[in-house]
Order: sequence, then structure tokens, then C-alpha cells
Amino acid sequence: MNLFDVYPLNNIEITKASGSTVWDAAGQEYLDLYGGHAVISIGHTHPHYVKRLTEQLNKVGFYSNSVLIPLQVQLAEKLGKVSGKTDYQLFLCNSGAEANENALKLASFYNGRKKVIAFKGAFHGRTSLAVSATDNPKIIAPVNETDNIIFLPHNDQAALEAAFVQNGNEIAAVIIEGIQGVGGIKEASISFLQKIRSLCDQYNAVYIADSVQCGYGRTGLFYSHDYAGVEADVYTMAKGMGNGFPIAGISIAPKFKPWHGMLGTTFGGNHLACAAGLAVLEIIEQDNLMQNAEEVGAYLITELKKIEEVKEVRGRGLMIGIELPETLPNVKKDLLFKHKIFTGEAKPNVIRLLPALNLTKAQADQFLNEFKIALKG
Ligand SMILES: Cc1ncc(COP(=O)(O)O)c(C=O)c1O
Repeated sequence: MNLFDVYPLNNIEITKASGSTVWDAAGQEYLDLYGGHAVISIGHTHPHYVKRLTEQLNKVGFYSNSVLIPLQVQLAEKLGKVSGKTDYQLFLCNSGAEANENALKLASFYNGRKKVIAFKGAFHGRTSLAVSATDNPKIIAPVNETDNIIFLPHNDQAALEAAFVQNGNEIAAVIIEGIQGVGGIKEASISFLQKIRSLCDQYNAVYIADSVQCGYGRTGLFYSHDYAGVEADVYTMAKGMGNGFPIAGISIAPKFKPWHGMLGTTFGGNHLACAAGLAVLEIIEQDNLMQNAEEVGAYLITELKKIEEVKEVRGRGLMIGIELPETLPNVKKDLLFKHKIFTGEAKPNVIRLLPALNLTKAQADQFLNEFKIALKG
């Protein structure tokens, strides 16, 4: 049997990892500033994480949502505290797409409506509704095509207002990333998020904050949307939540009332996933990782802005996009193969940095030095 060949692969096999360092099968060391698409939040193989997962696996790894799982309650309490949303409710699932799918479904159950506002450049996942709300026709299969999604230009308040004036009573939800990740590290402006909040209030639509990539402390606040000083109705999260163990969730405002069977999943919230989620939050809290992300991120952004060849630096905390001119198309590849540094990319020529939240200033300096050399070719 062959693998279904959907991923363009780098010819590197990672066999060992620790913190923000990984090693390949030949023993070559790399600095990891990508964390496998923003997933590694507390560093690879963090000792507390390994211990907590190992201990849990030796007790019970899985049972379904048909019995009491106190670890889910502990996770909800901890998440409420660390995210500052103690009165919200937690539904656990397995991936970012599933989190967004459930958030959109919840919104539609709530107000009985069908239309969703999404934005140009958005990526919300690959399941049915999530992919329909994603601005990439190439990955939308005919079966996923729907008239229910209204795409609007990003950060355009007039277009948003006009869409509500025209369709207000049909709009179930507005879904937006605090900072677009796949779209090239583009931040939703504070006034735009405030406008979404006020229009959703006015028209009884649901404000869904897709925090799958930009959330979980990466920008210094737990949810980057909260820089706007207004709360979303539903926050979706995944990537950093389990430091590599598949776990996702949606944080749901008190006004939503659950009923049995409304949402569900076989794997979501299993014992091992909750142990992973708890270990991550314990380290984020104990080691002040949100503060570290803010500080090391601000340092990186300041230093990157000083580099002449760089067209633009965007982002917040440890979610950084470095836009390069077309004349420098090979920097990401050179960083990996010549300088042994993992980074991400976005079209057309943006280097994406999404490292673990405990990246040190020394590691940031190592990147800056190598990056400057890579820019010279
Ligand atoms: C903002 C955002 N939402 C949703 C998703 C989908 O997450 P997953 O791949 O876990 O389904 C992603 C993945 O890149 C994402 O960046």
C-alpha cells in the first residue's frame, strides 16, 4: 500500500526533539521556529508533558463520552482561568477544522440562520463548512460549494456594515482569525473586531474567533482577538492546545444553552488528550510563557524591522510574518537546508515564524544572525 501523496515533503526525517531543537536521522541539529505548523507550544518533549502523558497512559488512555471524565472538568477550569473566560463553557474535539465546524453549527442552532460572513485570505480548515468558509477555491470540492458563505474584504468596515444591512436577519455568524496565518500573517484591526462585535450584537449574529493558529498565548494574550477589548461569543482552538497530541476545543459564551446530542465526537476529550491539554496549560502558567512570547516576539519584530532587505514585518508575539521581495525567492529553503532552521511560508513570499512559546532570546538571536546571512544568498 502506498501513501496517498497529498503533501509536498522536505527530505528530512526528524528522529529526536527537545525544546526548540530537533535532530534528523543523521544526527544533524536544527532550530525549530515553526513547531510543525504552530503546534509545539511548550517545546518538544517537555519533561512535565512527557511525564503527565506517560502516567495517564499507564492508568487509562481512552474512554468515550459516555462516562464521567473528571480530567475534562479540570481542563475546562484551567482553560477558563488561563484564558480569562471563567464563565464560558468548553466543548472538546480533535482538530481545528472540527472546532470551526462545531462553532458554525452552534451559531446556526442558536439563531436558526444559515449565512456566514468570512473574509478574503481566511483559512478555517478542510471539513465541509470550514472549507467553504476558507478563501481557497482549489480545496473546495463541488460537494462543499454553498451559497451560505459571504466573503468580504478583510478589515473593510464599510463592506461589513453593508453586508449586515442587506442580509442582517439571515446572518448566523461572522468567523475571523485574529491574525490570518495561512493568509500571510495579517492582523484583523482592533476597530474591525469591535465593529464585528457591535454588528453581531445588533443583529443577533454570533461572533466566532478562530484562534486555532493565533491563539493559545502565542501573541502574549491568550486569544489575540482580545486585544480589541471585546469578547467573542465562541473561540475555537487547536494547534498549541496539546503540544502535538490531537486535541481541540471551543470556548462558548454563557448565553448558549446545550442540549444532549447537540454536538458530539467519539475521540474528543479522551483521557490522554486531556492530560496533554492540562500539561500544556500548567507549563504556560508556571513558566509565564505568554509573557515570554510577547517579549521575545517583540524583540524579534523590532530587530527584523531593521533589516534592509525585508519588505514588511507583520504579526504579534511569536506569530510573525516576514515579507520578502520577489528577488529573494529561496530564503525559506536556504534557511532549512543551509542554515538548519525550520520556518514556515505563506504566499507570495512570506516567511512565517511560529515557534514554541518558550523560545529564548539566544535562539531568537541565532535566527537573526543566520537570517541576515541567508538574505545575502
Ligand atoms: C486559522 C486556522 N483555522 C483552522 C485550521 C484547521 O486546523 P486543522 O488542520 O487542525 O483542522 C487551521 C490550520 O492551519 C488554521 O490555521
